[in-house]
Amino acid sequence: MYKLIDGKLISTQIKDELKQKVADEHIRATLAVIQVGNDPASSVYVGNKKKACEYIGIGSAAYELPEETSEEELLKLIDELNADDDVNGILVQLPVPKHIDEKKVINRISPLKDVDGFHPESVGNLCIGQEGFVSCTPAGIIELLKRSDIDIEGKECVVIGRSNIVGKPMALLLLKNNGTVTVCHSKTRDLKTICKRADILIVAIGKPKMITSEYVKEGAVVIDVGIHRMENGKLCGDVDFDDVKDHTSAITPVPGGVGPMTIAMLMVNCVKAANR
Ligand code: GUN
Repeated sequence: MYKLIDGKLISTQIKDELKQKVADEHIRATLAVIQVGNDPASSVYVGNKKKACEYIGIGSAAYELPEETSEEELLKLIDELNADDDVNGILVQLPVPKHIDEKKVINRISPLKDVDGFHPESVGNLCIGQEGFVSCTPAGIIELLKRSDIDIEGKECVVIGRSNIVGKPMALLLLKNNGTVTVCHSKTRDLKTICKRADILIVAIGKPKMITSEYVKEGAVVIDVGIHRMENGKLCGDVDFDDVKDHTSAITPVPGGVGPMTIAMLMVNCVKAANR
């Protein structure tokens, strides 16, 4: 019988711990959230981030900028927020419209306020094992494993996906926790054989239900980062949950697995930013 890793429950525990810490230590913090344009999915994410701030008792300042905002205007706003002592964390919701260079935006946010952990200095710190902000989704996955009593040390960990936001920092975090790590991607040959070796399989490919039981070793732990809306309106992940579940020792559902952890770890980073 597999264990269902309940991300909703664990994320609520983390937010409750933060809420207590914010109250006990009289922490004052404000997260600035910038959204350019009105992509509906981004609006939902931004709304959830504001709600989470409210829940743990910190402030949020929302900047909803029109689609036609220039790169220069956006960078100017980031400069102002970098200089504002009342703002501890700055987040620009991605993707930004095509006429804006995402890299320039990420690089402009002060590493001291980089609660997304996307700045090259944050990524570099993670890479060499120094203190810094860590990308929220992979940090949330480590927390899910730890709070489910799943040991990483010495395990064969396979990450599918090499994005800057998930795959790469995920590999670094597993390595930091003494896992043996393989990163697979679209050009990987014989993906099934490599996945079948994994004690811990982390899937961030962006293809609905691509990972079936043929990819999963008996008793493996499977973490699904994907989220897709199916034609019937229901959500699914990159893993074919019903096909895979009985072959695992533990698995995350979609929704209610990795998703809620991203926001909980963002709140961890905001509280950390306030203490810096
Ligand atoms: N778009 C999708 N995920 C994220 C995230 O974690 N942070 C930001 N800023 N944008 C995103």
